[in-house]
Amino acid sequence: MEKIGIIGFGNMGEAFAAGLRARLPEKKLVVVEKLPTRAGVARDRYKVLDCTGDWVQFFSHADVVILAVKPQDADSLLREISSYSQGKRFISIMAGKQLSFLQTHLHTPYLSRFMPNLAAMHGKAAIGVSFPEGSSTPSPEMESFRAECLQIAEAVGKPIQIPERLMPMMTGLSGSGIAFVFQFIHAMALGAVKTGFGYPAALETTLQVMEGAVEVLRKTGESPSAWITRVTSPAGTTIEGLQVLEENAFTATVMGAVEAASRRAKELEGV
Ligand SMILES: NC(=O)c1ccc[n+]([C@@H]2O[C@H](COP(=O)([O-])OP(=O)(O)OC[C@H]3O[C@@H](n4cnc5c(N)ncnc54)[C@H](OP(=O)(O)O)[C@@H]3O)[C@@H](O)[C@H]2O)c1
Repeated sequence: MEKIGIIGFGNMGEAFAAGLRARLPEKKLVVVEKLPTRAGVARDRYKVLDCTGDWVQFFSHADVVILAVKPQDADSLLREISSYSQGKRFISIMAGKQLSFLQTHLHTPYLSRFMPNLAAMHGKAAIGVSFPEGSSTPSPEMESFRAECLQIAEAVGKPIQIPERLMPMMTGLSGSGIAFVFQFIHAMALGAVKTGFGYPAALETTLQVMEGAVEVLRKTGESPSAWITRVTSPAGTTIEGLQVLEENAFTATVMGAVEAASRRAKELEGV
């Protein structure tokens, strides 16, 4: 893999360019972006080869292409590139666009779907990665394509390989889930404000608590419930707070939020 093409240089296109520049600096980047200001950012900040307006040049350079336009722009884009796409390698990050839809337009078996979240901007996304499911053993070319995809995903976070049918659930957990975590952080900070903290100190403290909790879970490999039991002393402060959370159905509410977002993603996918 020498050159990576990106079509659509918005938030996600830029996140991939930044991650690839930082982690795979030897790769060359080629871009097509219809907004001149965004194409300028791609050229000036990431030193990409801008092929906007010249698909022949773009496809002669790009060994693997990341499709990073909005889902509503997918149809017109795929129609535009379908005469160049045969046998090429594609990664789509477009929410709700299935591999079978891509296959119909792009006429190539080398397809992958990613579901990142906005932490891709800082190389910390949880990224669902799917490939077309076939019964036969993958060819060496397909194996090398899959390895390339995982390498590209690692440039912006942690790839989690899943069957495509779980993509809507990944949207609920990762794509939308990051907003649920922001909401929880905000709520913790507001609780501290209620008890007398200023919001900036409350937020900073909450972020440290979050980082600490993640670190404990990662370093020990133990489950959240094991640690909750350890932190909760008899007739202590933690059990008082936990009771309030559960009186207000905290666990069921969060479960419901992930489920609702997944359900909506499924509806948008038309399955
Ligand atoms: N942002 C997230 O957190 C997130 C998470 C998971 C998945 N995704 C997926 O990532 C994709 C990109 O999202 P985003 O937030 O980066 O969107 P965005 O900021 O709107 O970026 C898309 C860019 O592509 C350009 N574009 C549209 N059609 C084009 C074409 N035919 N050729 C070249 N450029 C074209 C757009 O220009 P115009 O504005 O002029 O149309 C825009 O600058 C979406 O499909 C989304 O579902 C995003």
